[in-house]
Amino acid sequence: MTELRFPDGFTWGVATAAYQIEGAVTEDGRGPSIWDTFSHTPGWTANGDTGDVACDHYHRYPEDVALMADLGVDAYRFSIAWPRIQPTGSGAPNQKGLDFYSRLVDALLARGIQPNPTLYHWDLPQPLEDAGGWQSRDTAERFAEYAGIMAAALGDRVPRWFTHNEPVVTAFYGYALGIHAPGRTLMLDVFPVVHHLLTSHGMAVQAMRPHLRPAATTGIAHNLGLGQPAGPGPEDAAAADALTALQVHLYTDPAFGGGYPDTVLDLLPAAGQAAIRDGDAALAALGHDFLGVNYYSPQYARAASPGNPLPFDLAEPPAGLPRSQMGWSVEPDRFTALLLHLADRYGDALPPVYVTENGVPGPDQPGPDGAVRDPDRMSYLDGHLRALRAAMDRGVDVRGYFCWSLLDNFEWSFGYDMRFGLVYVDFPTQRRIPKASYYWYRDLIAGRR
Ligand code: FCB
Repeated sequence: MTELRFPDGFTWGVATAAYQIEGAVTEDGRGPSIWDTFSHTPGWTANGDTGDVACDHYHRYPEDVALMADLGVDAYRFSIAWPRIQPTGSGAPNQKGLDFYSRLVDALLARGIQPNPTLYHWDLPQPLEDAGGWQSRDTAERFAEYAGIMAAALGDRVPRWFTHNEPVVTAFYGYALGIHAPGRTLMLDVFPVVHHLLTSHGMAVQAMRPHLRPAATTGIAHNLGLGQPAGPGPEDAAAADALTALQVHLYTDPAFGGGYPDTVLDLLPAAGQAAIRDGDAALAALGHDFLGVNYYSPQYARAASPGNPLPFDLAEPPAGLPRSQMGWSVEPDRFTALLLHLADRYGDALPPVYVTENGVPGPDQPGPDGAVRDPDRMSYLDGHLRALRAAMDRGVDVRGYFCWSLLDNFEWSFGYDMRFGLVYVDFPTQRRIPKASYYWYRDLIAGRR
């Protein structure tokens, strides 16, 4: 069995996102985001749950930073709520919003934890969505303006920046299938959204660079799960390849492989491709000093049913595979396969990789003694860290790992039903209880496992 040992200097971290933990959605000038609108629309989230209060991290961040310091992490990946900075999505920054993130960054640095912000973890200011959202190139331009504001405010203290979290989820779940905000169902007409997200990365990096420290790095955290055929036939195999092309290569090729994959462009309506302007390929390829990989599970596909405009149907994992509470299959070997696939596909063009999210939900509750035991999470993390180590042993340059998540939090359309935290949150009282996995991860980081 692969040793659970990592090189000196490997970065250990935890990750969260603003709308999932902050709460305080109307405080200090924050404007509404598409997730406020979505979560307040009846029927769109489990139990009608919203991020109105969430983990109240906006007020309790000192306690949360202390939890991270005791855990021993080197870095914290959090996100910045754009509507706290520009409540309407454009114009002069809201000083109180900037002050909050400045306080957070200082609190982290005071405990020796590297701040690693993500600029866009899905909470688009609602007025920008009303004007077309990511379907409109103007949103990309507004995003660059916001990125420049953040770099000017925090660039003296932040060494690693993520522009986007999971463009594939924004585009596919938010704008193609409509199960995330803003709930649009564009199917393959979603391409302009993809294009504006990816080019906005380059625009943002251009706006940020003058304010960053010379050694500061920029990149995107992508959700990458290889397509797997649901059944044995060649049709399902082709469907799985199409899924990989549409959900992985469409996002990573423009950064490392030189443009959109032809197989995907061939599928897309020509009208959507009119979004591409001269110079955009260079913008999409700019500023990828690292690749952030968020990995949870592979995705299964079968041949498209009649009438489906997509080249595959999403399918359930085959019976017999272990599954998480989310229904996602638990297959650490697919994690190794993904990392090897990226190294193989992009060769020397692949920058260092950081695993920027990985974790699992569980039905965690305190026992009679008050302790929260989560053996399934420990076994998931152990399995995926061994799988990661196996890919590193085969030459993939991975520099760090961020566990999702520090805290139980608002899990998007699943509301508070899915607890992903290393720390249990009793939402009515906001009491935090480190779970058994928190102590397990602490020991691992300390090199004791
Ligand atoms: C990822 C998201 C993160 C969280 C985890 C479970 O796709 O980036 O916010 O929801 O899944």
